[in-house]
Amino acid sequence: YGCCTFLMIIDGPQAHCRYPLGMEDGRIKDHDITASSQWYETTGPQYARLNREEGDGAWCPAGLLQPSDTQYLQVDLGQLTFLTVVGTQGRYARNSGNEFARMYRLNYSRDGLLWKSWKNRLGDKIMKANDNSYASVIKDLHPPVISRFIRLIPVTQVPNTVCMRVELYGCPWHDGLISYSSPEGQQMYSSPGYPIVSLNDSTYDGVHERRKLSGGLGQLTDGVIGQDDFLVTRQYHVWQGYDYVGWKNGSLGSGHVEMEFVFDKQRNFTSMKVHCNNMFQSGVKIFSSVSCSFKPRLLANWEAEPAEFHTVLDDRNPSARYVTVPLGRRTAKALRCRFTFADMWMMFSEISFQSGEKGRWVNTVIPTQMTPVVTSAWPNEETTNPSVEGQPDNGNTPVLIGCLVTIILLLVVIIFLILRCQYVCKVLEKAPRRILEEVTVRLSSSSDTVILQTPPVPPRVSQMDPPYERIFLLDPQYQDPAALRNKLPELSQSAEASACGGGYAEPDVTQCTPHQCFHNSVPHYAETDIVSLQGVTGSNMYAVPALTVDSLTRKDISVAEFPRHRLFFREKLGEGQFGEVHLCEAEGLPEFLGEGAPLPDRDGRSVLVAVKQLRADATNNARNDFLKEIKIMSRLNDPNIIQLLCVCVSSDPLCMVTEYMENGDLNMFLSQREMESTLTHANNIPSVSLSDLLHMSVQISSGMRYLASLNFVHRDLATRNCLLDRRLTIKIADFGMSRNLYSSDYYRIQGRAVLPIRWMAWESILLGKFTTASDVWAFGVTLWEIFTLCKEQPYSLLSDEQVIENTGEFFRNQGRQIFLFPPPLCPSSLFELMMRCWDRDIADRPTFEGLYQALRPHVAL
Ligand code: ADE
Repeated sequence: YGCCTFLMIIDGPQAHCRYPLGMEDGRIKDHDITASSQWYETTGPQYARLNREEGDGAWCPAGLLQPSDTQYLQVDLGQLTFLTVVGTQGRYARNSGNEFARMYRLNYSRDGLLWKSWKNRLGDKIMKANDNSYASVIKDLHPPVISRFIRLIPVTQVPNTVCMRVELYGCPWHDGLISYSSPEGQQMYSSPGYPIVSLNDSTYDGVHERRKLSGGLGQLTDGVIGQDDFLVTRQYHVWQGYDYVGWKNGSLGSGHVEMEFVFDKQRNFTSMKVHCNNMFQSGVKIFSSVSCSFKPRLLANWEAEPAEFHTVLDDRNPSARYVTVPLGRRTAKALRCRFTFADMWMMFSEISFQSGEKGRWVNTVIPTQMTPVVTSAWPNEETTNPSVEGQPDNGNTPVLIGCLVTIILLLVVIIFLILRCQYVCKVLEKAPRRILEEVTVRLSSSSDTVILQTPPVPPRVSQMDPPYERIFLLDPQYQDPAALRNKLPELSQSAEASACGGGYAEPDVTQCTPHQCFHNSVPHYAETDIVSLQGVTGSNMYAVPALTVDSLTRKDISVAEFPRHRLFFREKLGEGQFGEVHLCEAEGLPEFLGEGAPLPDRDGRSVLVAVKQLRADATNNARNDFLKEIKIMSRLNDPNIIQLLCVCVSSDPLCMVTEYMENGDLNMFLSQREMESTLTHANNIPSVSLSDLLHMSVQISSGMRYLASLNFVHRDLATRNCLLDRRLTIKIADFGMSRNLYSSDYYRIQGRAVLPIRWMAWESILLGKFTTASDVWAFGVTLWEIFTLCKEQPYSLLSDEQVIENTGEFFRNQGRQIFLFPPPLCPSSLFELMMRCWDRDIADRPTFEGLYQALRPHVAL
């Protein structure tokens, strides 16, 4: 992704059916990936997997590809598939490869025997692909392909070596329809000789002979449904009437249009849905009746008893609509339907079937965004069909009443929510000031552990706002378990449960008894256990126990000392309280690190790196934290965690050298992008797709699961702390440099402590307790940021004080807490996952392993 070209906004399957089909994650097996040739064993077709680096890193056909060559990579998807997107990438091979295909063609076959060439809606066969070896280029197929076998055919203008990695995106084609045949679509003339509308099936991929189409699929199965006005099209650069296939009454020698549908196997048909135009002012109407015959096998005769269905005609509402034709659960391999004209023209834009195979009922993906669907009832066999044309009470009345009732109910709910929100905001406004007055921060002089506590006055419990009685657990009395139990037994239980693991599945960094946790009247962190990624420039100021200089010796740091004179400053990337991050060229770093070092592209002997440097005047504590951060980072090794490459600590200023992430932080990256749409495509606006967002989420969950497996608690997971490299791999980091840029994300409490309160779990704010489970909470907020494209700060309508007050509500869990709203583009299952991250009960939050497992299929389905 990253350089995606995109996207027709269309209703229907193409908008939703965009799941990776399994090249990258291996669900498509090696034996289902074949090729016309391969250069070496190690560049065989099994290595043509997007974002994978096995073998020599890609599939490469043998020899130089000539412009006239047809070399192909073939994928057997195992079943008929609605294919909407293709992603390609070149051979990167950890920076040793530089072969890619600039263009490719697609051939496809439903049965593995008869192959067809894909063409776009304007008839072009060639798609632009890559112009480097690492970035994947994602292309929408307009029209989509319904097929089981796909061949990608690299195309070149000059003899060239090409290599490809590929992902295919789509979803299973449950209709099972493998072809339809019909009379060709016709032209509508405004005056003799002047066609105004061409109603042909322009993407039909079967045979077109003697005014008949046979053996293929086309516009009637492409997922694009026509508009109310058939002259208006959903596609650009096409002619009027493009979305419809239409026929004129009388032109076919009969008053009906006959179509045949052939399926992959015998199926039991419940219904057929036909999307029809009904612009009766122009002489277009839905069909008046349809008669469908069934054939159990291809070579059998049509069964004697057809299924008949009469529609309710409507010449008051010109909306295009679905007409549902019940098919009585009859079994067939093929159907022949005769649609009878109700007016001068009949126009269809989509036909789909609902059927079951072998006891399994399958619903096709039906576009739902259209005008209300007209679903007529299947007439009882015995009842004669009443022709209801012109009848006042037509089939629309119940639909209209249903709509009205729904709208009224929605209005009532909205009014209720607004009133409730007003009430909550009013109360929240009153309370936080007092809380803030009570909260002070004392930074322990002997250690860098920050203690949040209230002044030594008896805590006031507000009598005025009983529904918002504060439970502010940083109160001294709340740090005394006994007092705590007296005051709030529920909190006591919760504190014990949470502080001591509380059944939480993963090993917790604060495994201790309540007494240990609260001794000395301050929250106590298990000092030897706590390891945090945060450093001097990170958010460690608020809860990382101090380390003495002695406790950190050079042997603790398992990366090599790099000669600092070989670092050449290029630009400043960021700045924080105790240091700066620079972009530098590191001369001779590849040789210095040796084989297999995780280095990006280089220019000659130099490599670009990010160098974090401690300010010369930094305090001893900051210096310790810097060394501690190095110690921790030097032990981390995961594709989704920023990699420490080397250090300069033998003299001042202390430096840590990490890989350089060309695309900066995820917050900036997403906030500068829009969701892909026709608009972003047409205007070259940088965009991301839903699957990009899901992929990002999976990567972050993967990095976090690695940290969790080592019992590392990050404490400041957020999009601002996720960096992207040039290939848009995400790596989690925590660079306090972001404090300047994102200072409004942190809450300053009377002094130095800055807290990312909008990302923090209730127990972190109220109990000062940071665990993997509170990282999970922050992960939920990070997901929320991702799916709002970082256009808004979490709880943007609440002030910092109100956020803290809301935290009390999270603790009380009486339904008064304000949750982040579901991002408009976010699949509901994903929002449910976020909500689970914000579970009040720590033990009930998912683990990162669980999150990773739950998210991965979203990307990989
Ligand atoms: N800003 C802070 N750290 C960085 C890194 N490693 N790469 C790019 N930008 C950064």
